[in-house]
Amino acid sequence: MSSILHRRSIQNPFTVSPCSSSISQRPMSMFSAATLLVLLALMVVLGVFSPWMGMLEGLFSVTKPAVSKWHHYTLEQALSFVAKNGTVIVCAVSHPYLPFLNNWLISITRQKHQNKVLVIAEDYATLYKVNERWPGHAVLIPPVLDAETAHKFGSQGFFNFTARRPQHLLQIVELGYNVMYNDVDMVWLADPFPYLQGNHDVYFTDDMTTIKPLNHSHDLPPPGKKGRPYICSCMIFLRPTNGAKLVMKKWIEELQMQPWARAKKANDQPAFNWALMKTASEVDLYLLPQAAFPTGGLYFKNKTWVKETKGMHVIIHNNYIISFEKKTKRFRDYGLWLVDDHALESPLGRL
Ligand SMILES: *[C@@H]1O[C@H](CO)[C@@H](O)[C@H](O)[C@H]1NC(C)=O
Ligand SMILES: *[C@@H]1O[C@H](CO)[C@@H](O)[C@H](O)[C@H]1NC(C)=O
Ligand SMILES: *[C@@H]1O[C@H](CO)[C@@H](O)[C@H](O)[C@H]1NC(C)=O
Ligand SMILES: *[C@@H]1O[C@H](CO)[C@@H](O)[C@H](O)[C@H]1NC(C)=O
Repeated sequence: MSSILHRRSIQNPFTVSPCSSSISQRPMSMFSAATLLVLLALMVVLGVFSPWMGMLEGLFSVTKPAVSKWHHYTLEQALSFVAKNGTVIVCAVSHPYLPFLNNWLISITRQKHQNKVLVIAEDYATLYKVNERWPGHAVLIPPVLDAETAHKFGSQGFFNFTARRPQHLLQIVELGYNVMYNDVDMVWLADPFPYLQGNHDVYFTDDMTTIKPLNHSHDLPPPGKKGRPYICSCMIFLRPTNGAKLVMKKWIEELQMQPWARAKKANDQPAFNWALMKTASEVDLYLLPQAAFPTGGLYFKNKTWVKETKGMHVIIHNNYIISFEKKTKRFRDYGLWLVDDHALESPLGRL
């Protein structure tokens, strides 16, 4: 089943997203030969012929060789190219999230860690777009999911999309890399790496809004009302240890045990928490400090707390809110929507 899906998408990659490279997809229908001649003559007359050649080549070639080679770019190749000092930063992105990817990348570039970012593209449009602008920094792990449904929070498509996260992370640690996973609705205000102290297996952040003392424990928090903790699956750092692999395997198992149900609007976070709880006695877990890695439910909702912890914030997560529009607006309101004025700081440039 999965190999069929994969092959089909390879044969016709551009059907995955209607937004992708539409210029190179409808060459002759738009321009009659006569129109083109006039256009060419006009370009020569205006002396702007050579800069336009690239665009014309784009119009006539069905597949750009420089782009299609990324079809066969494997996770292993991507990791050996992108990882620095055995460490990689990953996110998983489908086409609609590109503005958030760019925003996140600008903030990472400001902390000088962009060179170890690997984008796990969830569709071919994203794979091509990122690698065209920033060769080698995106990889697609087949099969591709239905791009339309994949970004609807609470839908089965969304669940399938996030359910692959522990599998990707397990593969990366099995290949021997340290990996930091981030959701792309995050912004770095400082370098998180100095906070990954000690030699623990798994580092994570709490999604609870309850305010903790600055010297809170780094242990897995006790279970809440639902019988489990509320750790966020949005920011995870793993060392390539047996402990980290065990947590990922347990997470995958938990996801399979609690399959998607429409009524529950499931996502992958509860399964991650069950996995952490069930492996806690065997694995070295580390809860990152709340003041540095606050949930959006705290950062965007309690100005007093934000003032009290000024200068301590490292990564801000735009959660506890649903929809692109609301997330974008909130980032704008807080001066964290960097793509409007600082797109050129991104390795992808303006998208
Ligand atoms: C490389 O990794 C090692 C072990 O994880 C660490 O001690 C060292 O500081 C890292 N070096 C750089 C330049 O990041
Ligand atoms: C999600 O995954 C399940 C099980 O693999 C599959 O049956 C279903 O068709 C998928 N749904 C979507 C919308 O991707
Ligand atoms: C935090 O500091 C308070 C006051 O100094 C102390 O009573 C408490 O035990 C500390 N907690 C931890 C987890 O170290
Ligand atoms: C907001 O933060 C302040 C300062 O930490 C705290 O005293 C207050 O209880 C918080 N408010 C809410 C609603 O959590």
